[in-house]
Amino acid sequence: MADLPSLRLAGSVPGADVLAVATRPGDGGAELLADLDVHGVLERDKAKGEAGEVVTVPTPELVFLVGTGDGTATALRKAGAAIARRSKGSASLALDLRRLPLDAAGLQGLAEGLLLGVYGFTLKDTAEPRPLRTITVVVSDVDALKPALAQAQAVIAATAVARDLVNTPALDKTPAWLAARATALLKGLTVRVRDEQQLRAEGWGGVTAVGQGSARPPRVIEASWDGGGSTHVVLVGKGITFDTGGLSIKPSDSMLTMKMDMGGAAAVLATLRAVADLKLPIKVTVVACAAENMPSGTAQRPSDVIRQYGGTTVEVLNTDAEGRLVLADGLAYADQVLDADVIVDVATLTGAMPVALGKKIAGLFTDDDALSAQLLAAADRSGERLWRLPLVDDYLPALDSATADLRNIGNPKLKLGGGSITAALFLRAFTGGRSWAHLDIAGPAWSGGDDDELTKGGTGYGVRLLVAWLQELAAPPVPAARRSRKSA
Ligand code: BES
Ligand code: MN
Ligand code: ZN
Repeated sequence: MADLPSLRLAGSVPGADVLAVATRPGDGGAELLADLDVHGVLERDKAKGEAGEVVTVPTPELVFLVGTGDGTATALRKAGAAIARRSKGSASLALDLRRLPLDAAGLQGLAEGLLLGVYGFTLKDTAEPRPLRTITVVVSDVDALKPALAQAQAVIAATAVARDLVNTPALDKTPAWLAARATALLKGLTVRVRDEQQLRAEGWGGVTAVGQGSARPPRVIEASWDGGGSTHVVLVGKGITFDTGGLSIKPSDSMLTMKMDMGGAAAVLATLRAVADLKLPIKVTVVACAAENMPSGTAQRPSDVIRQYGGTTVEVLNTDAEGRLVLADGLAYADQVLDADVIVDVATLTGAMPVALGKKIAGLFTDDDALSAQLLAAADRSGERLWRLPLVDDYLPALDSATADLRNIGNPKLKLGGGSITAALFLRAFTGGRSWAHLDIAGPAWSGGDDDELTKGGTGYGVRLLVAWLQELAAPPVPAARRSRKSA
């Protein structure tokens, strides 16, 4: 499980196994050489030249020059990940950034990259012999950048938790296990776990139907943070701990990564931890719908008609379109019981999504232009990319059923295509017209290999994005007097 290195800021270069000096395009050789005079870098801050003074200069094993490109948060995130990854196997790293103009956003990006780049997950007993334990970032103005560092630490600690949850094999990762992990993670917050009997009794028909094929029953985890403020945000997460497809079974190769099908639940649970750690002045409730989608004698059948939370009936024509069934319950609950002001669901929902947008961009679906703009801006700030796709009403007939209110997959006879869009339209039917956005993270939730700040396996996608969004949403509005003066 993730054990992140400690990260601190300093005004001068400490002794470290690895020293890295930041460079920029156009840096002259002479300047670089001056900084590369390692002994000079180390001595400059300590040695005063007093009579008899002796300063020990610990010599690093390695000295790196690390490029920082245009100096944006994105470039620095990439640089941080690269240098941290290259320093793996050494116990300490000092990174001298004093030659760069560095603002809070830049430092945050850099710190995120450093911590994300060294993340690793293994169940081997033999751990890394010398993991990177200490990172010191050397900057000119330590005090000014401290809040940005604290921010990065909270967000990345949460991201690492989300990665751990996703990377845990489904052998261990039952819905009950996920609920127990969430309860431990969210200690100090209000957490309520519903078991399979409660779910059935309360009418969570989607979660019940998807979970009934597994010997390991479903759970719904509801947790909230109330930091004050008038807006109530509800985050709904898809928590399929393993997706075999159910009786509409997947080919075995397609199952290989399906322990990641709870990436949405992991992201929203971890986000709540970060929101609480940062004490954001906003109310956030998480509803994580956890079930294992298995084929068995008790599994739901293609053609079953189920009753979702709140009473909407659904004809289940493909048991592999299970995510929307568990989410529909969560969305209806957010609408009918939680009285949400805004709902965002996060789900590894459709295989069509990475076909359309690739592995690095999640799909954003919403009818609310203001919410769309907020989320797209948060995507820019956080580096977790989003692209808005249309909720086309023309495709609604694809979900018409003769026997139920909706069918769970688009009617293939109509040949309308747009599998990610029809999935989103299905979800919309449960949101009661509230402000709502759906994030289809089927692409970016999982990485095939180490790549910039991403590490092989679960990426924790969504935590940085959601925290960045909630932070802005929670930011106290600019006083009217100041605003009018500004615009005048
Ligand atoms: N969990 C999958 C979607 C998925 C696929 C996520 C690949 C990540 C990578 C989802 O439950 C699913 O199986 N969707 C089906 C829907 C179809 C049956 C309408 C799909 O996309 O094939
Ligand atoms: Mn599926
Ligand atoms: Zn799934």
